[in-house]
Amino acid sequence: MNKFLITGGAGFIGSNLAEKLINAGNEVVIVDDLSMGLKANIADLNQELLTFYQESITNHQFMEELLVREKFDYIILLGAVASVADSVANPYTTHLINQEANINVYEVIRKNRLKVKKVLFASSAAVYGNNPELPKKETSPIEPLTPYAIDKFASERYAMTYGKLYNIPTVATRFFNVYGPKQNPNSPYSGVLSIIHECLKNGKEFTVFGDGEQVRDFTYVDDVTEAVVGLLYSSAKWDVYNVATGKTVTLNEVIAAFKKVMDKELTVKYEQERTGDIKVSAADISKISREIDYQPKYDISLGLKEYIRKSK
Ligand code: NAD
Ligand code: UD1
Repeated sequence: MNKFLITGGAGFIGSNLAEKLINAGNEVVIVDDLSMGLKANIADLNQELLTFYQESITNHQFMEELLVREKFDYIILLGAVASVADSVANPYTTHLINQEANINVYEVIRKNRLKVKKVLFASSAAVYGNNPELPKKETSPIEPLTPYAIDKFASERYAMTYGKLYNIPTVATRFFNVYGPKQNPNSPYSGVLSIIHECLKNGKEFTVFGDGEQVRDFTYVDDVTEAVVGLLYSSAKWDVYNVATGKTVTLNEVIAAFKKVMDKELTVKYEQERTGDIKVSAADISKISREIDYQPKYDISLGLKEYIRKSK
């Protein structure tokens, strides 16, 4: 049994990960300010193995005291404003959360010489931007188009550099578009599949930004938590890994697939594309596949079925 810290653990990916770790008998501590996360996401977990703090990761003193007191085996940094569009609307406030708060954690580990087995930082495919080299390899050019992408890249680089300079075992993942149960649909900045799901369920109109021909590698959340746990327990360190399925669909295609799986109609209107939006996001996943023998189990239609089954 190990002790884990998950920042942003009441959010979508964090709560799915907490469930997996707790079900395996581990102790999990979550710090989340509930700006997007929900208490309900973690209410069903074994509360004897879970400690929840409703607190902001920007409270550096709180984070330092927690890290020094608890002496975590593993630290997973998911706490963030996860929306690219939100970072365009609020560049500085999101920067304090998406970058500064992460550096504070690395700094506390360094200053206090904390012995951690691994620190994993959740970076993003957004770092690749619109560079035409496809599919994206970890060595592909980095062209961040938004404050979100800059903060992800910087936090990732700080994780690697703190790791090497101060001998902290760090690793970073570049998640592509993750979907599944517990993704909060209640913000205009929410993940697109959670919004489509909500519109289909409630007969609401869905707005596509752009022509719907934007391409994404939509990855079911269980494949993501599997990759995270695999990297934590592997010898991987000071390196960054794409986490995706390696297959792509357009937004128009995913809308059609979702309608079919739910056997419902959806009214769709088209509006101007979002500033900073990436046109094509496609992943090469050979690096993580080699490192931890990673094989995604869910294609889009199986993933959507599982999403609906688990959301009932
Ligand atoms: P999410 O919004 O569900 O989870 C993020 C959590 O962080 C939320 O629960 C939110 O309340 C919390 N949070 C935000 N600001 C905070 C603060 N100041 N202090 C404490 N907690 C705070 O999003 P998610 O999809 O679960 O994303 C998890 C991580 O993975 C994020 O870092 C995100 O950038 C990254 N990521 C997600 C995707 C995706 O497609 N979902 C892809 C790439 C990277
Ligand atoms: C998503 C993640 C981001 C992650 C990135 C990695 C969220 C909220 N965003 O960004 O954390 O780093 O993947 O690849 O989880 N769209 C519509 N209508 C809507 C909402 C969105 O047409 O109502 C479009 C967007 O303009 C975009 C696409 O759908 O073209 C996907 O949008 P979104 O789910 O916000 O994801 P990304 O911006 O790709």
